[in-house]
Amino acid sequence: MRVLVVGGAGYIGSVVTRILTQQGVEAVVLDNLISGHRESVPQSCRFVQGDMGDAGELDRVFEDGIDAVMHFAAHSLVGESVENPAKYFDNNFAKSLVLFEAMRRHQVQTLIFSSTAAVYGETNTSPITEEHPLNPTNPYGESKLAVEKAMKWYSRAYAFRYASLRYFNAAGAFDAVGEDHSPETHLIPIALQVAAGQRDELTIFGDQYPTPDGTCIRDYVHVADLADAHVKALRYLCDGGDSVVFNLGNGTGHSVKEVVAATERVTGKKLPVRIGSVRSGDPAVLVASSEKITRSLSWTAQLSSLERMIGDAWNWKQKYPRGYSFRGTH
Ligand SMILES: NC(=O)c1ccc[n+]([C@@H]2O[C@H](COP(=O)([O-])OP(=O)(O)OC[C@H]3O[C@@H](n4cnc5c(N)ncnc54)[C@H](O)[C@@H]3O)[C@@H](O)[C@H]2O)c1
Repeated sequence: MRVLVVGGAGYIGSVVTRILTQQGVEAVVLDNLISGHRESVPQSCRFVQGDMGDAGELDRVFEDGIDAVMHFAAHSLVGESVENPAKYFDNNFAKSLVLFEAMRRHQVQTLIFSSTAAVYGETNTSPITEEHPLNPTNPYGESKLAVEKAMKWYSRAYAFRYASLRYFNAAGAFDAVGEDHSPETHLIPIALQVAAGQRDELTIFGDQYPTPDGTCIRDYVHVADLADAHVKALRYLCDGGDSVVFNLGNGTGHSVKEVVAATERVTGKKLPVRIGSVRSGDPAVLVASSEKITRSLSWTAQLSSLERMIGDAWNWKQKYPRGYSFRGTH
C-alpha cells in the first residue's frame, strides 16, 4: 500500500511517516517546507517539495499510484489566524479542496485528516465528546471545520471515505523527530527551552481560572500515540469502514502549573515563571473524551503520561539542542 502524506515533514506527519514505514506501508511525502523540516523525513521515503495547492504537482504524484492520503498540511497559529484569516482559509481550506479534487481525478477514496479541538470553540463541558456543538472562536478552527464540512459532503456525493481526527495537544518525541516550531507556541517545548537556558522565563497566561490551581487545564497526547491512531484509522477505512470523526486526547487534563512541576522533575531544573495576563478565548479546561475511538478502533493512549511525554521531549532536546537547525538528513 502506498500512502501520500501531505505535510509529512512537520512534527506529527513525520512521526506518522516513520511509523507507517516501520509497518511496511510505503509513504510518499509532499510538503512545501513552510513550517516543516526536510531532515525529519526518513531517507527511505520519496520526498516531493511541493504545495498542496499545486494541482499539476499533485497530478504527477498521484500518477505514480497512491492508495490513500493522510493530510497534515496547515498553518496553525491561532493568533496569526485572527490577524490574517485570508492566509488560513486559503492554505487550510481552499488548498485542501485542490487536494480533494486531485484525489477525485485519480480515484483515490481514502483520507485521514488532521482536525483540531479548536473546532469546538468555547466550552464549559468536560470531557468534550464529538457531539459537542461546533463553534470555533478563531479562523484557524473555522478553516479546519470548513474542511470537515467539505469532507462530509464529498463523502455523501462521491465514493470518498474519511476519518477526521480532532487532536488536542500533541507532545513528546519519537525516534529522531521532536517538536520544533518557529515561532514556538506550545507549552512543553517552551518549558524545555527555559530548562535548557534558551529562554529566560515561562509566562503563565492567568492563574485565576476556576481550576484547582488557578491555571488552564489541557489534554496532552504523545505524538506516537497519535501516530498509532492514524494507522488504526487507515486500516479501518481500508477494511470498508464508514466516514467518521474521532477525538484524540488522553481523557486526563494537566494544568499549566502541573506541566511546569513535571518539567522541573524531569529536567532537574527550576523554571523561572511569570504570571501574565489572560489570553482572550482561552477556556479554563479543554479535555477530550476519546471513548468513541477506544470503542470503535480499540485505541488508547499508551505513552501519554506527563512524565513520559516531557521525558521523551527532553531527551530529544538534549540530543538536538537547536532542533533541526544544523542537522543533516537521517
Ligand atoms: N501540534 C498540535 O498539538 C496540533 C493540535 C491540533 C491539530 N493539529 C494539526 O495537526 C497538523 C500537524 O500539526 P504539526 O504540529 O505537525 O504542524 P507542523 O507545522 O509541524 O506541520 C505541518 C506541515 O504542513 C506543511 N504545509 C503547510 N501548508 C502546506 C501546503 N500548502 N502544502 C504543502 N505542505 C504544507 C508544513 O511545511 C509542515 O511540514 C496540522 O494540520 C495542525 O493544524 C496539531
